[in-house]
Amino acid sequence: MNYVVVILVLSFIAYKIYQKTRVPEGLKNIPTLSFLDLLIEIFTKVGPDKRWENTRDVLEKEGIGKLWFNGQWTITVTDLGLVKDIMTKTDLYPKALLEESFPTSLITKYYGTNVVLSNGDVWKRHRRIANPSFRNLPVHVFVESATKLLNVMEKIDNEPIEVKSLMHRLALDVLGKAAFGFDFNNLEDPNNVYVTTYNEVMAELSKPLYFVFSFLDYLPRFEALRKIAKLNSLYDEIVESKHKAMKMGEIEKKINNKSADLLEHMVYACNDPDNPTLTNEELRHDLAIFMLAGHDTTANALTTILYLLAIHKDTQKKVRDEILRVLGDNLIPSVEQQKELKYMNMVINENLRLYPPVAQLPRRLNSQEIKFRNHVIPAKTPIVLFIYGIHHSSRNWKDPEKFIPERFENEKHDHYSWLGFGGGNRLCLGINFSLIEQRIMLCALLRKYEVSLPADSIHKDKLQIEPEVSGTSGPHPVPLIFKRRTE
Ligand code: HEM
Repeated sequence: MNYVVVILVLSFIAYKIYQKTRVPEGLKNIPTLSFLDLLIEIFTKVGPDKRWENTRDVLEKEGIGKLWFNGQWTITVTDLGLVKDIMTKTDLYPKALLEESFPTSLITKYYGTNVVLSNGDVWKRHRRIANPSFRNLPVHVFVESATKLLNVMEKIDNEPIEVKSLMHRLALDVLGKAAFGFDFNNLEDPNNVYVTTYNEVMAELSKPLYFVFSFLDYLPRFEALRKIAKLNSLYDEIVESKHKAMKMGEIEKKINNKSADLLEHMVYACNDPDNPTLTNEELRHDLAIFMLAGHDTTANALTTILYLLAIHKDTQKKVRDEILRVLGDNLIPSVEQQKELKYMNMVINENLRLYPPVAQLPRRLNSQEIKFRNHVIPAKTPIVLFIYGIHHSSRNWKDPEKFIPERFENEKHDHYSWLGFGGGNRLCLGINFSLIEQRIMLCALLRKYEVSLPADSIHKDKLQIEPEVSGTSGPHPVPLIFKRRTE
């Protein structure tokens, strides 16, 4: 009798495993990417370059691969035709929502539904409210932070500084002030209590074990919840204070004199009777996602660009010569001058091609069955666009591993082969925010310093990349030598 029960239980488990791992008919001919490689990559925290190394042969040949992950067959895409479809047909390829994919997880509690992770009418409502704020950026904040950065570096001359942490502190200060008028003062105070809490929350949310085994989310995580509650109460207080300022007419004044932050623009837009309002909770979720989308990304981009300039001295000189020619005696470029920094803009693009901070896009779930070549992708299959692979494929770029900023002037490339900021109507809302920040910081730093890589750097043969707790990709710490220039 006991044997019968054991056999029944084992048969049931075997059936469940079969059900979970069975390849749907239409995906059978899609080459399989190694799940074991992925597990090793996640737990050893290697960067997207390693992932590309492991998958390049398949993806360059087929443009598509399938991978068993988190109980489902997921499709990885690098084929540009399919990429274009995914980027432009957002109703056919909506994003996977947190509340559907990870209903019980802390990530869902913290980020909720927001402008990055929403679809259809909800996304349109968030985007309509957020759009005006990104067209009216408080540029004075970027300028103040550039000045503070130079002050913090004042005593440095001809010695290494760890640039990654410096750029993260800078980008957090810029984001806090520009997005919601909060000064983290992280450049001057690396151990600021809110920064520590923010970093701890990020570390909790990105623990790989919970991604790979999502059933663990059912276990209580009291300490993590306490930290999230602390951060949320900061966001809530800020939102509340903006509503009060709105009632007093202060926000309108700030909008008129162009000093309003992103949240003030959003609260103002919410009060428009023609526009459906975002609730305080929705505003809080947007703030949480701005912190994620707008801080590590730009910080990593600034770090990798400084590294590239440090190892390509000729390019560094060309960028500096352009800055001096275009800006004259000015320290900060005006909007017009930023357009004239053509070579710098190419270097920025090439940096984001080589080291895209968002190495793969958040998952999409096709709303209907899709036919691609002789494959049939069933509805609701998770689809991931592998930006790093697209940027490093020799099918899309000549000498893809080489740093050649001029390629953006001289070479023709497919519109969808460069996806640093995504594409289609889900294009990054913060493009200008990030580009202005990068240009202002590069002008301030390169005018004053010559940058070089220490001889004993771990990056001397190749930049070492790792996945970040925020889900972006960035380098391991990068000490660079800053030598004061004598003009
Ligand atoms: C180098 C810096 C940045 C990079 C590489 C970057 C990259 C991206 C990418 C690839 C997407 C598309 C995501 C998708 O299609 O699923 C995106 C979307 C987005 N980004 Fe950025 N981003 C950067 C800076 C910023 C900044 C500074 C902000 C805000 C302060 C921001 C806010 C957003 C938002 C709100 C979206 C969602 C747009 C939508 O779905 O309507 N980003 N970003």
